[in-house]
Amino acid sequence: MEEINPWSSQPSVDVEKLFTDFGIEPIENVLNLLPEVPYFMRRGIVIGHRDYRQIAGCISEKKPFHILTGFMPSGHPHLGHLMVMKEVVWHVEQGGTGYVTIADREAHAVRDISWEKCDEFGREYLACLYALGFEGETYFQSRNNRLKDLAFEAATKVNFSELTAIYGFGADTDLAHAESVITQVADILFPQVDREPAPTVVPVGIDQDPHIRLTRGIAHKMRMFTVEERDGYISVRSKNAPEAALDAVKKAFPHAKKYEGHVDIRGAECADVATMVREIERAHGGFAFYTPSSTYHIFMPGLTGGKMSSSNPESIISFYEPETVVRKKVMNGITGGRMTLEEQKRLGGEPDKCSLYLLNLFHMVTDDSELAEIRRKCMAGEVTCGQCKKETAERVVAFLKHFREKMDACADRIRM
Ligand code: TRP
Ligand code: SF4
Repeated sequence: MEEINPWSSQPSVDVEKLFTDFGIEPIENVLNLLPEVPYFMRRGIVIGHRDYRQIAGCISEKKPFHILTGFMPSGHPHLGHLMVMKEVVWHVEQGGTGYVTIADREAHAVRDISWEKCDEFGREYLACLYALGFEGETYFQSRNNRLKDLAFEAATKVNFSELTAIYGFGADTDLAHAESVITQVADILFPQVDREPAPTVVPVGIDQDPHIRLTRGIAHKMRMFTVEERDGYISVRSKNAPEAALDAVKKAFPHAKKYEGHVDIRGAECADVATMVREIERAHGGFAFYTPSSTYHIFMPGLTGGKMSSSNPESIISFYEPETVVRKKVMNGITGGRMTLEEQKRLGGEPDKCSLYLLNLFHMVTDDSELAEIRRKCMAGEVTCGQCKKETAERVVAFLKHFREKMDACADRIRM
C-alpha cells in the first residue's frame, strides 16, 4: 500500500487506488442526500469523503454540525487555496458552525517559517476567507491555549510507532514536527470542545488524509463509551468510564441491565441511546466526540503543469499580482491544445488536460451552461487556444480586481 505524505511537494496520488486502499468513498454516493448540490461536487472537484452521510443528514434535517479546515501560512495565498475556502463558506451557509485555523505551528516546525512571516501570511489567508463571505471563528494555533491543552490530552492516545506507521517518522524526526501533527488533531476536534459535540466535516486535499485517519482514531479512543447495535439489543460498553457514569446509563433506561463494564439495553432506538450516552459522558467530564467526517478535493493544476506551488512562481496566480503579469502567466499556461492549427480544427482540444480550462472550471465560470459551451467549442475545434486563453485572461483579471477590493474591505475583520 502506497503511503501518502502530507509534506511532500509532489503528492502523486492515484485516485482510484486511494479509494480502494484507504476506504475513501466516492462523493457521488451521497449527493442524493443533499437538498442542494454545490458546484464543486457537481463538477467533480470534490471527489471523495469519509462519513459524509452524517453531515448531509444534519444539513437536510437542519441539525447542528461544525465545519473546520486549516491553512499552513508558509507563503502568500493563491488561487489554488480558494476551493477549500469556498467549501467552508458553503457549509456555513448550510447551517454549519465555521472554524478556520491558521497552522502557524506547522509552518514554523515543518517549513521553518518565522513567526513574523506566519502572521503576515496568515492574515492574508484570513482576508481571502472573509472576502468569500466566511462567517465564523478563526484562530492561529500558536495563540490558542485551549487548543494546546486539547492537543496534550489527545497526545495521551498516540505513540511513536503509530506516527511511524502513518507518516514514516523516524528517530531523526524532530519533536516539533510530531507536535504539529497532534496540534492538527486538536484543530479538528476543537469545535466540539469550544461549542458542543456535533458531527464535524473537514474539507481537505487528499494529501491530508493521514491526519484525518489519525484524528478519527483518536476521537474514538477519547470516548468513554461505545454504543453498538447487537442482535435485538443495544450494548453500551465502557472503555474508561467512571463507574458512576455506567450507573447513570443503566438508570436512564427502564429495560437496561448492567454487567461488568457494559450495559445492555432493550426496547430503545440506537440513535436515542447514543444521544443519551453522550450527555452522560459529558456530565462526567468526558469529550463525547463525534468521529469527524471529511471531504477530499482534487488540486487545481498549476499553469506550468504539475502542482500550484508558491515555490514555483510561474505555476500560481496570487491575489496582488499586477495585471500584466497575470495576463502573461495565463497566456503562457499549459493547454490541452494540439501542435498545429490544422490538428486543433480536426481533432479538437483536450480540456481535461488544460490548466486554463480547469481554472475556468474551478473558479472563473460559475454558470454551468457557459462552461459546457467552452468545453464543447474546445473539443469541436471551433476555437483556437490563443483566443480561449485571451478570454480566460480577461476573466481572471476581472475576478482578481473584484476579489482584491473585497479583501481590502475585510481588512478590519482580521483578529489575531
Ligand atoms: N496541514 C494543513 C496543510 O498543510 C493545515 C491544517 C492544520 C489543517 N490544521 C488543519 C487542515 C485542520 C485541515 C484541518 O495545509
Ligand atoms: Fe484549453 Fe481553451 Fe485550448 Fe481547449 S481551446 S485546450 S480549453 S486553451
